[in-house]
Amino acid sequence: MKSRIKAVCAIILILAMACSAAGCGNAKTNSTPGSTSGSMQALPAQPTNRSDEPDDASVSGNRTLVIYFSRTGEQYTVGVIDKGNTAIVAEMIAQQTGADLFEIVPADDHYPKKYKELTDVAKQEQRDNARPAYAGTLPDLSGYDTIFIGAPVWWGDWPMILYTVFENNDFSGKKLVPFSTHEGSGLSGFDRKLASACPDAQVLEGFAVRGNDCQNQQDSVRNTVQTHLSSLGY
Ligand SMILES: Cc1cc2nc3c(=O)[nH]c(=O)nc-3n(C[C@H](O)[C@H](O)[C@H](O)COP(=O)(O)O)c2cc1C
Repeated sequence: MKSRIKAVCAIILILAMACSAAGCGNAKTNSTPGSTSGSMQALPAQPTNRSDEPDDASVSGNRTLVIYFSRTGEQYTVGVIDKGNTAIVAEMIAQQTGADLFEIVPADDHYPKKYKELTDVAKQEQRDNARPAYAGTLPDLSGYDTIFIGAPVWWGDWPMILYTVFENNDFSGKKLVPFSTHEGSGLSGFDRKLASACPDAQVLEGFAVRGNDCQNQQDSVRNTVQTHLSSLGY
C-alpha cells in the first residue's frame, strides 16, 4: 500500500514539474513584438543602441517620436483650415503608438496664410536651397528608436525647413519613417531624399495621405495610418 502511495505521489510530482516547465495555467502571455515566449516574466526593454545587430524593417524598442511640419491658413482644395493636414496625421500616429510629438515651427514665421503667396515663398526657398531656422530644439533623440517625420509635399520635395532639421540633428542609428500629405504627388521621393540627407539612419517604408482626406475623410486616413503602423510592427 505504502509503495502505491509513493508511486502516485511521484507521478503527481512529475506532472506538476512538467506543467510548470510548459507554463500551464499562465493565461497572460508576453505581448512584446517578436516575443515567442509564454513566460510571465517581462522581457527587458530593447537597448536603444542596436548598431551591432542586423538591420530589419520593423520597429523595435519602446520609444517613438513624431516630428512634423504643417501649415494652417488657406490650403489647396480645402480652403482655410485651422489644423494642418500633416498635423492631423501626426496626431493619429501619436495616438496609435503612444509617441511623443514635436512640431517644427519656423523661428520667424514668414510663411503667408494665403495659398498662392505661400507657394511663391516656398518656390523661392527651393531655388535658394534655403535652410530656414526653426524655433526651439528637438527633444533628446537618444531616448528614441523610431522617429516618424512628416510634412506636406511642397513643389515635389520636403519643405526646405525640413532639411534644416535633417542637417542640424544626429539621426544616426535611428529608424526613420517618412510620411507626407499631398494633393497628387504621393510620397514624392521623401524616403530617398531623407536617406540621402541622413545617411547613417535606416529609412523604413513611408506612406502618403491626401491632404483633402485629412480634413474630410478622417476614418479612412486613420485606417491608412493603422495599416501602415501594423506593417511596421506596432
Ligand atoms: C507651397 C506648396 C507647394 C505644394 N506643392 C505640392 C506638390 O508639389 N505636390 C502635391 O501633391 N501637393 C502640393 N501641395 C499641396 C500640399 O502638399 C497639401 O495641401 C498638404 O496636405 C498641405 O499640408 P499641411 O496642411 O500639413 O501644410 C503644395 C502646397 C503648398 C502650400
